[in-house]
Amino acid sequence: MGILLGELQTQLQELQAAAIQAIDGCNNLEDLEKLRVEYLGKKGQLPQILRGMGQLSAEERPAIGLVSNQVKDIIQNSLDQQKETFLAAQIQAQLAAETIDVTMPGVYVPLGRVHPLNGIIDRAIDIFVGLGYTVATGPEMETDYYNFEALNTPADHPARDMQDTFYLPDGNLLRTHTSAVQIHYLEENEPPIRIIAPGRCYRRDTVDATHSAVFHQIEILAVDQALTFTDLKGTIKEFLLQMFGMDLPIRFRASYFPFTEPSAEVDVQWQGKWLEVMGCGMVDPNVLTKVGCDPEIYSGFAAGFGAERLAMVLHEIDDIRRLYTSDLRFLHQF
Ligand code: DAH
Repeated sequence: MGILLGELQTQLQELQAAAIQAIDGCNNLEDLEKLRVEYLGKKGQLPQILRGMGQLSAEERPAIGLVSNQVKDIIQNSLDQQKETFLAAQIQAQLAAETIDVTMPGVYVPLGRVHPLNGIIDRAIDIFVGLGYTVATGPEMETDYYNFEALNTPADHPARDMQDTFYLPDGNLLRTHTSAVQIHYLEENEPPIRIIAPGRCYRRDTVDATHSAVFHQIEILAVDQALTFTDLKGTIKEFLLQMFGMDLPIRFRASYFPFTEPSAEVDVQWQGKWLEVMGCGMVDPNVLTKVGCDPEIYSGFAAGFGAERLAMVLHEIDDIRRLYTSDLRFLHQF
């Protein structure tokens, strides 16, 4: 064996030992890659040693080739193993960091609820939208014209009294009913009209278990050619059926409202008693004329009812004031 061959073999053994030691001592992927380049890369230590092969005889070369391949494989295996160890540790660390402790107590997020009054208004809207109606609104501060005059309410009508209506210093007033929305809508829209107008109303009532100075009404108005009282009855019947969730006995009682002719009040038999739930009627021709709608061509029906009253009946609430006091013990029941 030539001296050079022996020397090269020794160098390869030493290189292998140094490389294994460095790889074992390495502790991250980045450094490991640097070691691969340092030992096995194109300009690495192994190729450098092999450059000496050029001076070996043709017989000696295969021997050193064999050793160098073995050394290369051993270093490569060692690199691969270490790399796998690092990757496994990385996954373990990630799993540990992202673990969810399913035994931890949850964070309590209280769920909001719909206020019983809004619940009634929402249900009424849903029912009428299902019948082809759209929602309309109007201002809560009104002029005498929209709240009374255009609604055919004579100057001496008791509702216009200072005792019943909140008048503002400038002569305006707080609307006493949502019927005022009828006029706004009729002024701006041509028939066919089908609207539901929910909103706040104000009256100078003394507050007690069944009265509130601020309350909510839901107004219904339909104007079209050839609408009759039968259309009104069918609409009210369908509404009450859906609202109460059952086919209760209902009756239409003749009544009077300045803006409807004929007018009626509707009673529902609920838990053995007749309950008045709304006012309604055929839109008075005077009202149609006021908004430039020819009563010879068009007719209409209207209805109005109190949202509080329906809420109180359906939820068996004994005092209207409970609907406004934000008492959570009460509200949690809905
Ligand atoms: N505006 C009436 C009230 O406040 C309720 C009412 C009655 C509305 C008959 C109507 C109606 O649209 O046709 O007492």
